[in-house]
Amino acid sequence: MKLRNARYLARDLLDTLLRPGDAAVDATMGNGHDTLYLAQKVGERGRVWAFDVQQAALDATKKRLEDGGCADRVRLILDSHANMAAYVDEPPAAILFNLGWLPTGDHCVTTRTDSTLAAVSAAMELVRPGGLVSVCIYPGHAEGAREKLALRQMLEEADIHRFNVLWCEFANQRQDSPKLALIQKESLS
Ligand SMILES: C[S@@+](CC[C@H](N)C(=O)[O-])C[C@H]1O[C@@H](n2cnc3c(N)ncnc32)[C@H](O)[C@@H]1O
Repeated sequence: MKLRNARYLARDLLDTLLRPGDAAVDATMGNGHDTLYLAQKVGERGRVWAFDVQQAALDATKKRLEDGGCADRVRLILDSHANMAAYVDEPPAAILFNLGWLPTGDHCVTTRTDSTLAAVSAAMELVRPGGLVSVCIYPGHAEGAREKLALRQMLEEADIHRFNVLWCEFANQRQDSPKLALIQKESLS
């Protein structure tokens, strides 16, 4: 394990959590790097749902999954992650958000505070007991700064009997460097 940045810290934790046959959600598919990662982790018996609001993201992800031989276990959905509960029919072990815009696309199409809050709330309900919701936040742009403040406030109010919430930031990086929110639902046992 190497402390590199918020995104890779999430991956290191998911490496310890995800098992073959699990269900998982990529709430922000983008160019499909995280979707492919999840598909590889859950294996051919697992299932992945991936969301984006841009057709270009679905096209790039479809190709990445086909090249990686993992397309069979992934459902690509052109809809907002705020609607994930309408599609996901099995409690996921992990739900991954990597907020912001498609790096190769129009930077005006970015995740928005209202739908991000709705989607993270939906994810907290959907994730299985013991499962993890991971949210990588980029406060270096105006909407990302709003998302950071609003998510922090929402998560500070999360029911302590149902969720453990960790807010991670690197103390020696710039103040607006990416943050990672990790939300684990309490196990039933
Ligand atoms: C930083 S990128 C994700 C990177 C991606 N995880 C990867 O591995 O390449 C953020 C993505 O979120 C998408 N997005 C924006 N609003 C969304 C929404 N309401 N629901 C789902 N995806 C959304 C953007 O279109 C963009 O592709």
